[in-house]
Amino acid sequence: MFRPLFFRFSLLSTALFLSACEEPRLSSREKNFDPAGVSDATSLQELLAGLGVNLPTQPPDSIADGQVDDGRALVFQGRLPDREDQKLSAYFYCADCHSTERETHNLAEYNDPLAKLAYAIEKDIVMLPAPSLAGIVNREGYFQSESAERFGAEKAVLNDLPAAIQFCSTTIARGRELDETELEAILAYLWSLEWRIGDLGFRGADLAELKRRALNPDEHRLIAEELKALYPLFTQSTVGVIPEDSFAGFDRKTDPDLESGAAVWLRSCIHCHGAGGASEHYFGDKPSTWRALQNAFREGLLYEHLRQGTFSKESRTAHMPSFSREKLSDAQVENLRAYIETKVSSEKPEN
Ligand code: HEC
Ligand code: HEC
Repeated sequence: MFRPLFFRFSLLSTALFLSACEEPRLSSREKNFDPAGVSDATSLQELLAGLGVNLPTQPPDSIADGQVDDGRALVFQGRLPDREDQKLSAYFYCADCHSTERETHNLAEYNDPLAKLAYAIEKDIVMLPAPSLAGIVNREGYFQSESAERFGAEKAVLNDLPAAIQFCSTTIARGRELDETELEAILAYLWSLEWRIGDLGFRGADLAELKRRALNPDEHRLIAEELKALYPLFTQSTVGVIPEDSFAGFDRKTDPDLESGAAVWLRSCIHCHGAGGASEHYFGDKPSTWRALQNAFREGLLYEHLRQGTFSKESRTAHMPSFSREKLSDAQVENLRAYIETKVSSEKPEN
């Protein structure tokens, strides 16, 4: 009888002790936080820490000279500058599938494919199947989407950026694990792409109001939640859905937006299917290309490629990643199909 009672008593007293400590329990970063020092260039992660909220990915203690450039080389060339023969993957580099640019004006519209394509056209940038690496360090988790399930992501990668990178490099990019030097360099580069307060739209009067509210510690948690609602914490991706009847497609319209179709072609397909791209299937402006693509749509193959990718666990070769509905809407797929059909009908028949 004595022991359980004591046990219960000690639990209760611990709870009382903890709740008594709750009030003044500020992290050292929150204690040292000075709202007056916040500017549009302030790191989002740093501000959140000042407000008492720590995201799972935290910046390294220090970044050495050249590390960011080395990381950029890994992302855009697939290897460190001084390691000519040590590519991460024989088939891809990160930037084949991931942009490193912001993808929408309003970061909260991140799952809106219309906003993304309009932004890509305005800024003259690519629109790729994987999430942009901009602000990737500011996420709350990784590989939490349907496409991750398809790739068989382990639990360990769900909230650990280095693990997510290793997983992507070995599985999706069909390459190898990064060694410590490479991993640290990529992380340094990704930190150079973190969101800053200005990226979330805080400037002028908005910024002044944020700083004024942050003077009151009682508001800290609320402000942090508000900030986190302004940008994507996870990647959402709906994949795999193809039309029941490939001839009818995804609810084809009689007045497709050909300009949008051309933009998808240029910004999403040619990136990998143009000269020197990640795919050996070179899509030049040739009658044979347009006709083959038209047929691929009719036969349903291209809907499958676009929505499910060509990933197969068995073959260690290049594969095409899927475009989720959040990257390319059904209507945008149909615009692309219509654009391709226009190209076919404008061609003279081949002799
Ligand atoms: C062949 C295309 C491809 C290549 C190459 C590639 N990735 Fe990925 N990556 C993907 C896809 C597809 C996803 C999953 C996207 C989704 O869930 O919608 C992904 C997801 C990720 C994620 C998790 C993102 C999130 O928000 O959940 C990270 C981090 C990542 N990749 C980093 C990298 C890095 C770093 C490299 C280079 C070393 C790389 N990837 C190379 C296609 C690629
Ligand atoms: C990240 C790079 C990448 C992007 C972006 C991409 N593809 Fe691919 N695609 C590939 C690779 C790599 C292959 C080869 C796949 C394989 O062998 O499994 C491929 C294969 C294909 C094939 C099959 C060719 C064949 O003969 O079987 C078609 C069709 C295709 N892509 C169309 C498209 C279209 C249309 C777009 C734009 C919406 C697009 N791809 C965007 C990389 C990409």
